[in-house]
Formats: sequence, C-alpha cells, structure tokens
Amino acid sequence: MINRFIRSTIISQQPKSIYTSFTSSSSSSSSSSSFSFNNKSILNYISRKMSTTTTTFTLPNQMKAVRIHRTGGADVLQYEDVNLPTIKDNEVLVKNESIGINFIDTYHRTGLYTLPLPSTLGREGAGTVVQVGASIKTLQIGDRVTYFSPGSYAQYTAVPIAVCHHIDASLDAQTAAAFTLQGLTGHYLVRSTFALAANHTCLIHAGAGGLGQVLIQMAKIIGARVITTVSSKEKEELVLALGADHVINYSSTPDFSEQVKKLANDGKGVDVVYDGVGQATWQQSLKSLRPLGYLCLVGNASGPVPPIDPLMLSANGSLFVTRPTLADYLREPGSMQSRCTEIFKWVSQGRLKLTSKTVLPLSQAGEAHILLESRKSKGKLLLEPPTN
Ligand SMILES: NC(=O)c1ccc[n+]([C@@H]2O[C@H](COP(=O)([O-])OP(=O)(O)OC[C@H]3O[C@@H](n4cnc5c(N)ncnc54)[C@H](OP(=O)(O)O)[C@@H]3O)[C@@H](O)[C@H]2O)c1
Repeated sequence: MINRFIRSTIISQQPKSIYTSFTSSSSSSSSSSSFSFNNKSILNYISRKMSTTTTTFTLPNQMKAVRIHRTGGADVLQYEDVNLPTIKDNEVLVKNESIGINFIDTYHRTGLYTLPLPSTLGREGAGTVVQVGASIKTLQIGDRVTYFSPGSYAQYTAVPIAVCHHIDASLDAQTAAAFTLQGLTGHYLVRSTFALAANHTCLIHAGAGGLGQVLIQMAKIIGARVITTVSSKEKEELVLALGADHVINYSSTPDFSEQVKKLANDGKGVDVVYDGVGQATWQQSLKSLRPLGYLCLVGNASGPVPPIDPLMLSANGSLFVTRPTLADYLREPGSMQSRCTEIFKWVSQGRLKLTSKTVLPLSQAGEAHILLESRKSKGKLLLEPPTN
C-alpha cells in the first residue's frame, strides 16, 4: 500500500502570521513574498526557527468507517475499510478522536431522513486537523477542532471550514464532541428560536437525554424555570441533580399537560416547550402552553408528528409552532463560531457539564444505536475510533 505522506512543521508558541510565513516559504506552491517582515518579526522568526519541532502525519490510503448500504435496523451498520476522504479547497481533513452519536443518526439509518447509499453515518466529531484545503487561512495542520458535518463515524472526516470550530488544547475531545451538535442545538433553541429569559418557564422533554441535559443546563444558566419529563425514577434523580425545578414521569403520567399548566404562569401554562419526543407528546405539549406560547418541535424520538390543523393553534391560545433544524441556524456566516464561543465559555466556566456519557468503540456503533433507541441511555453517547 502506498502511503500518502503529509509533513508539517509546527513552531511552538508563535503568532499565526509568523507560522504561516514560515510554512508558506517552505511550500513549493506559495511564496513568502506575500508577507512583509519588519525587523522585529525577522528576529522572532530566526529565534523561533532555532526551536523548530517537526510533526509528521502519515496518512494511510484506507481507514475504518461505519457505513450503511441499505436502510433498516442497527444490523445495517457495517464496520468496513474505505478510502480516506479527499478534501476540497474549503475543507480540512480531521483525524477523529471522539465521535458523537445523535438521534438523527438513527433517522438516517432507518430511512426516515434520506441519505445517498452507501453513506458513512454521523454528524459530529472532534480531533486534529491533518490536511488543510488550499483556500483555508484560519486553521493549520495540528490544530484541534470540533465540527458538525456528515461522515463522522470514521477515523477521518472531510469538514467544511464553516462548520469547524478551533478548540483549546485544554478541552478534551469527548467534551468538545458532546457539546457540538447538541450544544449548538440547545444554543439556537434558547437564544434564537425562542429567546429564553429569566422570567420564563420552559418544558423540556426527555430531560435526561443528550439534548435534554444540555437544554436544562442552558435554561438554568439563563435563569429560567425548568419543568422536564423523563421515563424512569433513575432519570428523575439525574435531572433534579442537573438543576431542573420540577420533573414529571411521562410514562406514568402521559396526560401531563394539566400538571405542567399548574406549575407555570399562575396556571396559564409554560412559555415554551422544547419537544424532541414528537409523536407521543406533541398534543400534550400544545396543551401545556400559555396563550401565545411557543411549541418547538425539534425531533421524532417516538415517531414523526402528523400534520397539524392550524385551528388547533387558535383553539389553544393563538400558539406558535416551529419545526427547526440546526443547519438552518448555522447558515449565517460566523454563526457556528459565535455559538461555539459561548457554549465552550460555559464549559470552561464549569456551568455546562458533561455529567453522563457512554463511550463505545467505533466498531460497536450498532450497539450504541440499540442503546439510544431502547431509552436506556442517559446523556451523551460517544464513539472512539481506532488510533492507528
Ligand atoms: N432539530 C434539531 O436541530 C435537533 C438537533 C438535535 C437533536 N434533535 C432531536 O432531539 C431529540 C433528542 O435527541 P438526542 O440525540 O439528544 O437523543 P436522546 O434525548 O439522548 O434520546 C432520546 C430520548 O427520547 C426519549 N424517548 C421518548 N420516547 C421515545 C421512544 N419511543 N423511543 C426512543 N426514545 C424515546 C427517551 O428519554 P426518556 O426515556 O426519558 O423518555 C430517550 O432517551 C431527538 O428527537 C433528536 O432528533 C433535533
């Protein structure tokens, strides 16, 4: 097998401009003449060149990935050898250290959401940049990043720069991956879809799940009151420990709306519902809202929501319903970076914590899907790719 060989030189603790100049001047395709050096920077350049260390990435032609060739149950996930992705000018190649599992991966696997076949599953990961596209100026080989992009159930993923976020060396890859897709979703839901404030009360379904735990913590950072639903006693304890103000077991109380209403706005109902459960809860969610309240239908964990009659919205108090997706909330240039900046600031302050996680090898992605769909998982599910 012919190895692709990437060689990069990293100069420790130097400003990016100097680094760029140095690597550019050593590259056959670019010229150092595009950078103007003053005397001070030349001295810096020379002194740092003395302490140069060389980092070498040897990229194989092939890698391990989890793909589907047809839709169906967890058994359609295949752990196989595939070619490394080829990056475009606006992409980086990331060597994944940690890969996040999300419910959307099960929709892709079952065919609820369509993917071309065969496809590598997965939408998020964190790791190290090992190749940089020609037009990219803001990342370099050796940088650590987290991203929201297709094809993450693999050792390497090609990621567009717009959905890639540079992370601090102090942030571990599992925490970074855990707060990327679900962190960004929680962020747009509380900051953009419905701007949650300290005087609001929200209802968060499946509070012990990945997105649920993120939403509870973000709502509490903002100072809102949180009512949440879960399906077991163990999950009740978990969400209360996270800071939820009230918890309802919706397995034993499927008609939870009366209870929710009593707890919010003097019996009028909650200001907003974040509902990722879907089919089993959406009607009770509508009934839990105050007049002019917001129903954010974010997912289909129990199945898709059927068509909604607009007259139901007027009958229940001129309600608003939205069905948002993360990709739309990242369309604005810089959105990924500004959202990630606030999310990882909360993480570094210890206000947003990864309190429960389950980590499995990449080869066991099928087991991870079964765990997620069985409702036995709590918090974040992560995959670890082989390191070779
Ligand atoms: N629109 C977006 O931008 C966006 C982005 C991210 C996630 N989401 C959605 O948010 C939801 C949560 O995603 P996640 O990845 O964080 O998953 P998760 O919450 O970790 O897992 C789903 C949870 O849903 C609950 N659930 C209720 N009925 C279920 C059923 N019949 N089958 C399976 N689970 C059921 C379970 O909690 P209990 O046992 O406590 O009921 C389960 O733990 C999903 O619907 C997902 O699609 C949407």
